[in-house]
Amino acid sequence: MSWWWLVSFLLLLSDAVNRNNFKTCDQSGFCKRLRGMEENKSGYYVNPETINQVNSSSVTFTVKHEMEKHAHTVILRVLKDSTIRLTAQEKEPVHPRYSPVDSLGEAPLQDQSCTLSKSGQTATVSFSSHKAVLNYNPLRIDVYAQETLVASVNARGLFHVETQLLKPEVNEEEHQEGEEGENEEDDLGISAEEIAKMDWEESFNSHHDSNPRGPRAISLDVTFTGFDKLYGLPEHADTLALKGTGSTDPYRLYNLDVFEYELDNPMALYGAIPYVHALSPKHSVGMMWLNAAETWVDINYSNEKSIVGRVLSSIMSSDEVSRIDTHFMSESGLLDLFLFLGPTPKDVTRQYSNVFGPSYLPPLFAISYHQCRWNYNDQKDVLGVDANFDKYDIPMDVIWLDIEHTDGKRYFSWDARKFPDSKEMLSTLAGKGRNMVTIIDPHIKVDKNWGLYKAGKDHSTCGIYVQNKDGGNFEGHCWPGTSSWIDYTSPCARQWWAEQFSYDNYQGSSPSLFTWNDMNEPSVFNGPEVSMPKDNLHAEQWEHRDVHNIYGHYMHKASSDGQVLRSQNTARPFVLSRAFFVGSHRIGPIWTGDNYASWEHLKMSIPMLLSLNVAGYTFVGADVGGFFGSPATELLVRWYQVGVLQPFLRAHAHIDTRRREPWLFGEENTALIRDALILRYQLLPYIYTQFYKASVDNSPIMRPLWYDHPSDTSLYSNQEEFLLGDSLLSSPVLESNEKSHLVTLPGPQVWYDYHSYTKYSPGTMHISVKLSSTPLFIKGGSILLTKMRVRRSSQLMESDPYTIIVALDNKGEAKGEAYVDDGKSFDYKNNKFSFQNLSFTGNKLSCRSGVKEAHYKSAGVERVVILGVDNSLSASHNGSPIISTFSKSSHSITLKKPNLVLSDEWDIEFS
Ligand code: GLC
Repeated sequence: MSWWWLVSFLLLLSDAVNRNNFKTCDQSGFCKRLRGMEENKSGYYVNPETINQVNSSSVTFTVKHEMEKHAHTVILRVLKDSTIRLTAQEKEPVHPRYSPVDSLGEAPLQDQSCTLSKSGQTATVSFSSHKAVLNYNPLRIDVYAQETLVASVNARGLFHVETQLLKPEVNEEEHQEGEEGENEEDDLGISAEEIAKMDWEESFNSHHDSNPRGPRAISLDVTFTGFDKLYGLPEHADTLALKGTGSTDPYRLYNLDVFEYELDNPMALYGAIPYVHALSPKHSVGMMWLNAAETWVDINYSNEKSIVGRVLSSIMSSDEVSRIDTHFMSESGLLDLFLFLGPTPKDVTRQYSNVFGPSYLPPLFAISYHQCRWNYNDQKDVLGVDANFDKYDIPMDVIWLDIEHTDGKRYFSWDARKFPDSKEMLSTLAGKGRNMVTIIDPHIKVDKNWGLYKAGKDHSTCGIYVQNKDGGNFEGHCWPGTSSWIDYTSPCARQWWAEQFSYDNYQGSSPSLFTWNDMNEPSVFNGPEVSMPKDNLHAEQWEHRDVHNIYGHYMHKASSDGQVLRSQNTARPFVLSRAFFVGSHRIGPIWTGDNYASWEHLKMSIPMLLSLNVAGYTFVGADVGGFFGSPATELLVRWYQVGVLQPFLRAHAHIDTRRREPWLFGEENTALIRDALILRYQLLPYIYTQFYKASVDNSPIMRPLWYDHPSDTSLYSNQEEFLLGDSLLSSPVLESNEKSHLVTLPGPQVWYDYHSYTKYSPGTMHISVKLSSTPLFIKGGSILLTKMRVRRSSQLMESDPYTIIVALDNKGEAKGEAYVDDGKSFDYKNNKFSFQNLSFTGNKLSCRSGVKEAHYKSAGVERVVILGVDNSLSASHNGSPIISTFSKSSHSITLKKPNLVLSDEWDIEFS
């Protein structure tokens, strides 16, 4: 047993995070400095003479500080669709500032023209029906969406850019060398003594950060005016609605591998999206703070009238101003901000998608069921598990292999003793339409006899590994022992990494083998906060400090590119990542890391996944069953019932936990888990359609109830229920032994129980539940696509016919969409797909092509079920009758074998 195993084991016995491993704001130099800034002492002002409209969409101006000589260029750029981008850059910086531009979507940003007018102490930039008013002294920018003040930038005077300096000894040398150094010192107006007193170096536990480029943090306050709640800032194991941080640390965004993370607190986790969504019944606004360095965010909800409140209420001509103050603080990087002005949550989503791109369209298997555990021991074990899914008649698409499948944690390899013929194993699985995923981590075992390690070390054109501060390859500890880390921030290293996925390089792999990227925060067992030293160096000499939060994103991207490359651009990739950043939603799914088999963790998975969706990450999931610990049977069953309605569905378990495949808990429970998974497979066509929509405009797959009902403030704190796409509402049972379950069905639509077709009026009510209950409701007025014949895998269901469910609203109408393609290739990009608009109105169900240029021959329709019908009706297509049965008890009509193809255009008439 290696020392790390022993440490892991001992930690497992204690059941909480070791907080001492992770910094508090007070222990993080820049957070302490910036959080301690006094409000309303901004000192920054605009030089009115510099205000200049540089082109039809951008206005620039110079901002200066009354005490400092440094000036900053601010650019306010107006983008199409009610979006503003604000950047601030020091003039002549000592070091360049990092900007994570690869987070931006592929489509170039589109400008919107604006006009600039000046009057007295303000300048106004107007565009569409919005405006940004720039107040000169102190600097403040008030943003109005359709005449309503929605956001104020620097209203509390916390804008601050730490002036970058050269280290004192360097200054002194230069001073002796001649004029240049002298000027520098004069220009800054800061004495060498003062500079030396700054936080150049920092220590935490036994780790020392040399910070050779010195303090260069940035800070900004943004006040959202007239809003009730703020959401977003994943990833935290905390409530969906963000909390005020007055009596806690700020929310921290710094990708970290937190062993046994705690619930309900603002500590950092594996991924970071510095994005917030402010919500009120009238308005939604989104804001991205595009920065890849360590970031802390303070939040304060208030109705009080502080100085700011008075300023704002005079603008709003109202006494009561409800406002949410935010304060963003990052250790380094460029100040780069996007504001999306809504006004509805859906508008904000589209505006976000214009800038950061829509979600990736996964292959169909990726949204089906994944069976994972650390570890499936060997080939025999894998094939046994696979066979048992057939024996117990449970659908499953993917079996996963964790780190133990490798030859000594050398990724891209197999332990030949345990997996003597991986190709044979892969082909047995593929014969049933099943795939496999292997884990590939970013740490590369330092082993001079291993080809991959050596190839990285000896690469002739670029540095493949991250360097330490002295320029050698960084070495640290992870699963394989001493390791180096690939520098995924380098395009050249990413290309090299992508090539490792070729069938020649990755021996024993095949087209049905996909990838899991773990530990990519990156996790370094003996590093500061279990990560990489911040003074490590990446391509172009960026410090790790600058790129930390985007590191894992680049790994995710390089692996996904590798899969596309190996298929010569024909097959859609599938890579699960643990770390993520802005833009990762375009690459593949993430999961919420090492959760625990407890009811609390099950409950927390909902707000965590909802926060991710609100912040633009649609393909997300949590380990079903809980990673650590062994779930009680009831908890496991309930977890499946919740998980099957979440976007990414994978069961996973720690190596020290008891086996928990679905057939190990007695017949009755196996049946319950089977039922849950069957439900998922029935809904695949509907869920896939939601994924298609997310690939067009990033519509969330898993939505808070308020998302589709923003005017109902009673939903703002609901984090027990969620919408799956726009037509289904899941109200999961999250308590042990619950008999009477509280359900909230937002109005004005009626809702139908998915299983019994019982119709419910909107409102809050109790329903009785059993262990077999998975409360799921269809929104009245919607039409969904399902497949009721469930087989062993999604691929085997490809040509099975559809069942269309029509849930009528109070007017007797409904509409919906149906997307179908081959589920695996990129042919959909060449219009080989079918997107149908279905509508029920005037006693006619119509199916019409929604994208005329698209063509794909889908399977047929075997059944149409209409919910909310009071009398028997007869149905016909082109004059030929269709067999229909009316159920008085469930107020539904079922049409059998209408003999129609979903991808054709057709009508069914009712009389
Ligand atoms: C990390 C992952 C977990 C995985 C384990 C071993 O803890 O989060 O899912 O099983 O590493 O690879």
